[in-house]
Amino acid sequence: MLKTIGAFALSLCLLAGLTAANAAGDPIEKRHELMEDVGEAAKPIGLMMRGDSDYDWDVVLTSLKTFDSVSHEFGDLFPEGSETGGNTEAAPAIWTDREGFDEALAMWREATGEAIAAEPQTLDAARPSLGGVFKTCKNCHDGYRIEDE
Ligand code: HEC
Repeated sequence: MLKTIGAFALSLCLLAGLTAANAAGDPIEKRHELMEDVGEAAKPIGLMMRGDSDYDWDVVLTSLKTFDSVSHEFGDLFPEGSETGGNTEAAPAIWTDREGFDEALAMWREATGEAIAAEPQTLDAARPSLGGVFKTCKNCHDGYRIEDE
């Protein structure tokens, strides 16, 4: 009897573990989380560009590194079958125009790389490259994100 209960408890644990693993591997959830990180990382830069906080290259660099790492992961999170569900804001164009989407992703990665390499130490010096990065955010959102506002 005890043995049966033990086995039952064990299988429940395994089941719970599997469910957790599935949730962590859900591409819709994952890409949403990554873009939320990107949004959070963009905030301090936005404040600096509006003059609402002092320019701080270290903070900018941390945000740019987040953009860079997400830009390398993001493209893998749109497998067939993840077009809808989970309140995704991914537009159907990602699947119908994959080339264009990959290009928008590459433009973002490049602009981010350029901004990192420039190491601008003042806001005026940073404006062109940071502006260039944000343009690539908008460029991709315009074509590949459904915004429900
Ligand atoms: C290559 C395309 C692409 C680029 C570049 C891109 N995004 Fe996104 N973004 C998306 C897509 C697609 C979604 C919707 C994701 C989903 O719901 O699956 C999204 C969603 C978001 C969201 C909403 C997050 C959420 O789901 O709650 C924010 C905030 C965001 N992006 C900010 C940014 C910022 C800031 C940048 C640039 C620094 C950026 N994005 C660059 C494609 C892109």
